[in-house]
Amino acid sequence: MRPSYRFFLSKKNPVFFKLHHSLTSTLSGNQFNFEKNNQFLTCPFRIFGSRTIFNEAQKSFCASYISFGQSRLITKDFKGVSIVAGVASQVRNFSTSVETRVNDNNFERIYVQNGIGTKPLVVERIDKDENVLGDEESRIGVLVDNCESVNRENLDGGQEVEIISPKREESEVEKEAWKLLNDAVVTYCGSPVGTVAANDPGDKMPLNYDQVFIRDFVPSALAFLLRGEGEIVKNFLLHTLQLQSWEKTVDCYSPGQGLMPASFKVRAVPLDDNKFEEVLDPDFGESAIGRVAPVDSGLWWIILLRAYGKLTGDYALQERVDVQTGIKLILKLCLTDGFDMFPSLLVTDGSCMIDRRMGIHGHPLEIQALFYSALRCSREMIVVNDGSKNLVKAINNRLSALSFHIREYYWVDMNKINEIYRYKTEEYSTEATNKFNIYPEQIPSWLMDWIPEEGGYMIGNLQPAHMDFRFFTLGNLWSVVSSLGTPKHNEAILNLIEAKWDDLVGNMPLKICYPALECEDWRIITGSDPKNTPWSYHNGGSWPTLLWQFTLACIKMDRVELAQKAIALAEKRLQVDHWPEYYDTRTGKFIGKQSRLYQTWTVAGFLTSKILLENTQRASLLFWDEDYELLEFCVCGLKKSGRKRCSRGAAKSQILV
Ligand code: GLC
Repeated sequence: MRPSYRFFLSKKNPVFFKLHHSLTSTLSGNQFNFEKNNQFLTCPFRIFGSRTIFNEAQKSFCASYISFGQSRLITKDFKGVSIVAGVASQVRNFSTSVETRVNDNNFERIYVQNGIGTKPLVVERIDKDENVLGDEESRIGVLVDNCESVNRENLDGGQEVEIISPKREESEVEKEAWKLLNDAVVTYCGSPVGTVAANDPGDKMPLNYDQVFIRDFVPSALAFLLRGEGEIVKNFLLHTLQLQSWEKTVDCYSPGQGLMPASFKVRAVPLDDNKFEEVLDPDFGESAIGRVAPVDSGLWWIILLRAYGKLTGDYALQERVDVQTGIKLILKLCLTDGFDMFPSLLVTDGSCMIDRRMGIHGHPLEIQALFYSALRCSREMIVVNDGSKNLVKAINNRLSALSFHIREYYWVDMNKINEIYRYKTEEYSTEATNKFNIYPEQIPSWLMDWIPEEGGYMIGNLQPAHMDFRFFTLGNLWSVVSSLGTPKHNEAILNLIEAKWDDLVGNMPLKICYPALECEDWRIITGSDPKNTPWSYHNGGSWPTLLWQFTLACIKMDRVELAQKAIALAEKRLQVDHWPEYYDTRTGKFIGKQSRLYQTWTVAGFLTSKILLENTQRASLLFWDEDYELLEFCVCGLKKSGRKRCSRGAAKSQILV
């Protein structure tokens, strides 16, 4: 029997398009086989509420903002399920200009062109041939069947996508990992749109682990892309883009327009006549434990968008008006003026991978590294025209100021710690050495012993009179990958990981941060969080998903032997332990106390690492080299010979390669 789809335009609910079906079950993960036939079955959204899309300046355009695409009908049977989905390709095909004024990032207008008749956000592609859905083997089968490299038409029909299969027989562990990844796929209206965070059959309380998390999907996306599967990633990017404009409120307060959700879920909502509609239900933090803000989501979205272009060659996606608008809205949120004194992003606690109270509010390294690479991605992707040239200028200014700031003030090695150890305090002047008034007593005793003679790292956070000296792995690895650090820093970070292997890798790569907060620190900083006890979960737990970022950093720095060693450790245990989310204890010996099993980004992180190692050429599309132009760039206007010296110019000698 073949699937049956019929699309219609729903008038009942202005928010959602509807997917009805006559069974009580939803279309969930395991029908991923659908996606192979290059069609794009969609239930695009109608967006309502001018606030979500338009600001005051745009109201004049409201009258014409919705245009409905044509519905087309196809009929197929799918295990007796008859599906009727509404199609109205309302899109972000509106004309809008987002007003903003920023000082060094003065991009007065993000100008988005086009009114009615632009290309819809979600491309409708409906199969002409009824047979296509039923006949093909599983997706993985298509990928690995005895071919080294096959060309297949991609979604847009025009470009060729290379499908890569391993040059060797996959191990049993890899085979299981692919199966699990495949099983984790979530479909929406018949199309794959992401992967659930965890698929643990023994988990009686999945909380939100049955959702598609933006950050968690990144390694899944890379695994698919590196195997030549672009569709799921394209769908994910486009659907999350729609969610960006969602009406979102937390206790009647509306967070910023460009915010991307932390996660979303495909829900089946019952209708009359035993039918159901499928809706996408985003979480912008309003349901999340602790109501944490998903600051990293938008940054990851931009990073993934670039990766999609690089790995598929389908650059048309990033050039689309709606996608360009999405990038600009995210940047607008990040670049808008506030009370900040630093070029780094100011965020609340728990706004990234560590999404609980862990004392990382302020300017945590992870967010800065993601911000820096999102800016570099955007600079590559933004279509330059009169409407965007100020934005591009703002991006360049910020990139240059941010990299200076992080290199100069976040970097520590033995010499720097010694310098801080001898700092004078209470210096009132623009020429102060100890600019942030750090009291030397703040240097923790563990660090005095721990800092190796070789190597160094970026500290976790910097605020007035406060340095968080903990080592945060993701931030450091992503500094290497994005070249937020200098080439010397990047090398030194890997040297430190090597020198401190037992602490940072131990039995399972890699520690999320080092060391754990204990005793009074734990009580005060985490608020006595029973999930974040010392050496567990975010508080010094070991997270195998970090393996892919480590592998990428190692490939970039020509240290593949380190990655190989870490992957071998993971390969020995992950399958046996049922792919845990995290491990506990100082050395990562035990499966985490409350760890989910069959955690998708553990699986995907492992697979992505394996593929990256075998395709270092393709891996190089995912990292950045030093940008020497940025180093020359300074907007302060102070000449070397002037009365006042440019502080960046003065310090440059130390931070240059
Ligand atoms: C936990 C992690 C977070 C992850 C989520 C889903 O909340 O802290 O980083 O995105 O689980 O796996």
